[in-house]
Amino acid sequence: MTMDRIPLIAGNWKMNGAVAESVALARAVAAGVAPGCELLVCPPAVLIPPVVAALKGSAVAVGGQDCHFAESGAHTGDIAAVMLVDAGCSHVILGHSERRADHGESDELVRAKTEAAHAAGLIAIVCVGETLAERDGGETLTRISSQIEGSLPDAVTAENTVIAYEPVWAIGTGRTASPADVEEVHAHIRADVERRFGKGVAAGVRILYGGSMKPSNAAELLAIDGVDGGLIGGASLKAEDFLSIATSCP
Ligand code: PGA
Repeated sequence: MTMDRIPLIAGNWKMNGAVAESVALARAVAAGVAPGCELLVCPPAVLIPPVVAALKGSAVAVGGQDCHFAESGAHTGDIAAVMLVDAGCSHVILGHSERRADHGESDELVRAKTEAAHAAGLIAIVCVGETLAERDGGETLTRISSQIEGSLPDAVTAENTVIAYEPVWAIGTGRTASPADVEEVHAHIRADVERRFGKGVAAGVRILYGGSMKPSNAAELLAIDGVDGGLIGGASLKAEDFLSIATSCP
């Protein structure tokens, strides 16, 4: 990690929580803000307003876990990027492997959503990652390249986009990729970004690692060259664990 890229520690709460416990979790995270990194929590959509209220005046940002590509209209059950902004969000996670798997989201769709997020003024956290079959088949880097190519719109900048590398087989499984594997993929992503968007964007864009990051392995993962923070699922549901990860930032 270079000094220019402030680490981002992002909590992906997924489909967990209710109002009271989410507010308590948010308050506990805000009470322990870690210096030297940015903190972000991404609650389920209906919990965004109470969490935003609980975090008012704190340095902890709030993000959504998805948005639609349209600004409004007949899209039952969906949420527009502008609605996330209106509710107090600054970020949105897009193309998470669970959305790609559960909702059949394609790279093309993720790209359209990323464009909508940018148009609304949100920072898009675009997720990529290979499955175990792809890793075992030696296809990791080509898979990542095609996801990066297909999911990122042309208007990507270091300010409006964060990339999250999350090997699908490491999410919620307790397995993490080896430091050498993580370093290789992060360098590969940055090289892809440089080819398409130029040196400046590649030098500034943050690339997070995600997949079973927890207090016991965070220091090792966050110290890897090219890792600029983490996207944390399970361990973000406990303020103590989340903050312990945040204070592991080099
Ligand atoms: P995990 O999830 O930390 O529970 O593996 C990470 C993610 O899916 O963002």
